[in-house]
Amino acid sequence: MDAPELTERFITLASMDNKFIVFYYKHFILPIVMRHVKKSDHFIDIGCAGGVLLTLLRGEGFQNLYGIDAAQVLLDRVPDKTIPTVCGNYLNVKQFYSKNQFDAATVFNTLHHLDSKEEYCQFFENLHYIMKPGSVVIIKDLYDGLFYKTYNAILHSKIARQVFPRVFVGRDFVQTHETDMHRRFFREFVPHFNKMVETQERFKIIKKHWPLTFEQLIVLKTI
Ligand SMILES: C[S@@+](CC[C@H](N)C(=O)[O-])C[C@H]1O[C@@H](n2cnc3c(N)ncnc32)[C@H](O)[C@@H]1O
Repeated sequence: MDAPELTERFITLASMDNKFIVFYYKHFILPIVMRHVKKSDHFIDIGCAGGVLLTLLRGEGFQNLYGIDAAQVLLDRVPDKTIPTVCGNYLNVKQFYSKNQFDAATVFNTLHHLDSKEEYCQFFENLHYIMKPGSVVIIKDLYDGLFYKTYNAILHSKIARQVFPRVFVGRDFVQTHETDMHRRFFREFVPHFNKMVETQERFKIIKKHWPLTFEQLIVLKTI
């Protein structure tokens, strides 16, 4: 796991300070989420960081919101202090929440921080424990499509770095270079995803969304 050192980087990236992310989530991601959940749902945002999604959901009238993240510095940025948050490793969600506690969960841009196929399996096993049968889990993470490949090609091109040196700076994270982290995700998670989630009939993939970026949203129904 890369957190918590890595998460120092997210203090401004994944909080309400980041106006770009707030705009993107509000206009592109929230409408997708709202299609699959209800305002009365007991809803947990896993890897919630500074609470961008939680804040937007609160604004939509969601009452039963929860968040978990490994970095207290980020949880401190969640504007609504009435939202119960846990500072901990979400690989162990079973320790923090009860069986069948939640009707809905989001896991946004955080699974690529896990290290291995074994950790991903552990994650889905423990996640299943806290989700009600029939509940919804929405995963949003990297999608290795044309957009991602183009973005990466530009990001890592020497020409782009020479012409726009301040824009295309190396993006080293504390423990793992971003590119290595992405490679690990595409190796350890993506090819095994269907088997991992559908093993022992824990979840069923019901829908995929591509919001015109290098991300993909996958909606799971808990069995
Ligand atoms: C890229 S940020 C995404 C934040 C937020 N979900 C969003 O969409 O803006 C990844 C977050 O996952 C958290 N994280 C990574 N691994 C974690 C783990 N094993 N347990 C808890 N939180 C973790 C980090 O602290 C960070 O806040």
